[in-house]
Amino acid sequence: MKKVKVGIVGLGRLGRQHAENLAFRIPNCELTAVCSIIEEEAKKAQEEWDVKYAYTNYDEMMKNEELDAVLIASPSGFHCEQIEKALGANLHVFSEKPLGLYLEEAVRVEEAVKKHEDKVFMLGFMRRYDKSYAYAKKKVEKGAIGEPVLIRCYGLDPSKAIGGFMNFAKNNYSGGLFLDMAIHDLDLARWYLNSEAKQVWAIGGAYGYPEIGQLNDAETGAALVKFENGTMGVFVAGRNCSHGYHIETEIIGTEGTLRIGTTPERNMVTVFNETGAVKECSEGFLERFEQAYLSEVEEFINCIREERKPAVTVEDGVLSTALGYACKESFETGELVTVQS
Ligand code: NAI
Repeated sequence: MKKVKVGIVGLGRLGRQHAENLAFRIPNCELTAVCSIIEEEAKKAQEEWDVKYAYTNYDEMMKNEELDAVLIASPSGFHCEQIEKALGANLHVFSEKPLGLYLEEAVRVEEAVKKHEDKVFMLGFMRRYDKSYAYAKKKVEKGAIGEPVLIRCYGLDPSKAIGGFMNFAKNNYSGGLFLDMAIHDLDLARWYLNSEAKQVWAIGGAYGYPEIGQLNDAETGAALVKFENGTMGVFVAGRNCSHGYHIETEIIGTEGTLRIGTTPERNMVTVFNETGAVKECSEGFLERFEQAYLSEVEEFINCIREERKPAVTVEDGVLSTALGYACKESFETGELVTVQS
């Protein structure tokens, strides 16, 4: 089969990484078009990577009949609209998380995806493609820890990224701490526990950075979730982690426990000096999940070529959005919230 021709929208922090993967690291595809509302970004990418087309308007890119697929890495508020337009233009779609910021739009997209059965749709829950998370899933499935009963997740962004986050949040509504950040953990919990969320109680505050509170968001938050099969989830999300980027997951089972990323080590080097034996921490998502960002898009391209569907579905997007939204509602109201199903 010929190479899959992909157009990308969004050339920011993550979009550039996806674009470079498409252009240079995935043999069966071609980065044919780039799009950003910032003309400079689009032109720079076109020149740097020798891309055939550059756009500042997504609708214009949708008219390009050479394209087979689109990768959406624009701010979260645009995902649903851009997914629907791409499906309408008969394209395969990979969209970054979250699927939507509101349940209604996520459900609308689910219907659109179902109407285009011949198209591949995939959502960027890349942690499922991270080697350690995938290994842990296989272990759980083989019964290595008996029946999983509780999942504990930490999703903490480094304090030094707070400036970048404030710009991101002021320019575009991101959905808040739970929908924007904890969404990966919420998806992982559904995946490992094999169940949907039933009830949630979430709390949080803006302790080191009160300006986050002024955006009606939490800088650090926690959610306690009860799942339909009686299992439990404890989620801690934060934007003020002084030691670096800390993504940790623990799955407690009836016959054992699994932990992923307990010490968020950058690599296998230990520096011995006057401060002690130091393991440096990873500093951000691009560093920690470099392999997963590549593997998930490889899977998307392979699914298109092999005419099969990826394991991450639009339903995963809808159900994790519903849970993320319930966390946000509980945080805002102080009430125990029943998750919409
Ligand atoms: P960013 O703000 O760095 O970049 C956004 C890009 O989209 C910029 O190039 C901007 O010019 C462009 N853009 C904005 N509005 C547009 C429009 N209407 N049409 C075309 N281009 C437009 O954002 P970042 O951090 O790269 O995030 C992008 C998306 O990726 C978000 O939805 C975010 O939730 C998701 N994300 C996912 C991560 C993951 O671990 N899977 C990590 C970081 C971000």
